[in-house]
Amino acid sequence: MTDPALDAEALRERAVASLITARDRTTLLTSCVDGPDLTAQHSPLMSPLVWDLAHIGNQEEQWLLRAVAGQEAIRPEIDTLYDAFEHPRAERPKLPLLPPEEARRYAADVRGRALDVLETTAFHGTRLTEAGFAFGMIAQHEQQHDETMLITHQLRRGPQALTAPDPEPVPLFTGPAEVLVPGGPFTMGTSDEPWALDNERPAHRREVAPFRIDTTPVTNAAYRAFIEDGGYDEPRWWTAEGWAHVRRNSLTAPLFWRRDGRQWLRRRFGVTEVVPPDEPVLHVCWYEADAYARWAGRRLPTEAEWEKAARYDPAGDRSMRYPWGDADPGPGHANLGQRHLRPAPAGSYPAGESPLGVRQLIGDVWEWTASDFLPYPGFRAFPYKEYSEVFFGPEHKVLRGGSFAVDPVACRGTFRNWDLPVRRQIFSGFRTARSEEV
Ligand code: AVJ
Ligand code: FE
Repeated sequence: MTDPALDAEALRERAVASLITARDRTTLLTSCVDGPDLTAQHSPLMSPLVWDLAHIGNQEEQWLLRAVAGQEAIRPEIDTLYDAFEHPRAERPKLPLLPPEEARRYAADVRGRALDVLETTAFHGTRLTEAGFAFGMIAQHEQQHDETMLITHQLRRGPQALTAPDPEPVPLFTGPAEVLVPGGPFTMGTSDEPWALDNERPAHRREVAPFRIDTTPVTNAAYRAFIEDGGYDEPRWWTAEGWAHVRRNSLTAPLFWRRDGRQWLRRRFGVTEVVPPDEPVLHVCWYEADAYARWAGRRLPTEAEWEKAARYDPAGDRSMRYPWGDADPGPGHANLGQRHLRPAPAGSYPAGESPLGVRQLIGDVWEWTASDFLPYPGFRAFPYKEYSEVFFGPEHKVLRGGSFAVDPVACRGTFRNWDLPVRRQIFSGFRTARSEEV
């Protein structure tokens, strides 16, 4: 029998630990470069790092101090500066943002008060505090911005500011290239994962026809074969929009790649290196992933197919939290949490494989799916429409599984990410699928 009081205590400890882990990461990402680097805009796609820092604090203030605890605004005049919907990213450097030291003090002040609120708030009673949802949501929000800030670091020109050990080398993966996922209904989404966000809810049954899916994400070597076969010059591999996009922007390879004689180089966090052949391909847009799949005689998996591959356990005929089961991610399961600053070679993490034998579904690279970002049947926006609801529709494509830059608190078998099909500064890759002829 589960004891709800004990569960609440475990969740409270998890909330404290998740908030601390997130802040440690934020601190690292905002202290490894100097003041001018924090206030500069490194790409029109991104905010200055100092904006993310104060925005993290401001969201925490709004949800934990004001919404949960009913406190007065600390600095009501700054709310508009850090409202993501008021100012597009490209304009944020021109705003009268808090300078780095002030932003740090503000975020730290909010955090001190938020930990007091966390200690004294009951984990039941309101939807916001049920199972500590608001605290989990804010830890996830900070970690999402920590991934955003890592993207800013990747776009930043100049010497290396961040380092991390590389993943363990593994022997070249020689297992089966694809895995058969049986047809039939499965449970998609969740109604009982306490910190799952609104777009992951509710759990519902989905019928999926039998299909085959790649055992590992598509590698740099495989993607290079597409390039060298003239993939970027051949309109038949591309959708009409994709073709128009690659032509207009003269795309010839993933972002950050550069041809050097017979080899390909890439820039990664300020260091140029030879593109490692057996790593999952990174920094491709949806159009590139879709074109590669067509060239390979395959297609992108739908979001439902991806989730069935990642969660379905045929033995128990049920959906699990993760490919490996219901246990929280450990270092042997997946490449998460910015422990490494790159994906692990294809075939890594055998302990993280799904019951059907699919690897690296969680961590390493976000995986583009064929699907538009749409609400599940029974969706209700919570706690605010601007997290998911305003993004639903055909203009955003769903990505699944999380990258090496995502913390475990913001990564689950049900977690949904989305972006425009042209975006490739994100840590995006993909795997392919095909329908099983029946
Ligand atoms: C879920 C990653 C698309 O960064 O735009 C952060 C997460 N929402 N603050 C984003 C988010 C509000 C969001 N993504
Ligand atoms: Fe945000």
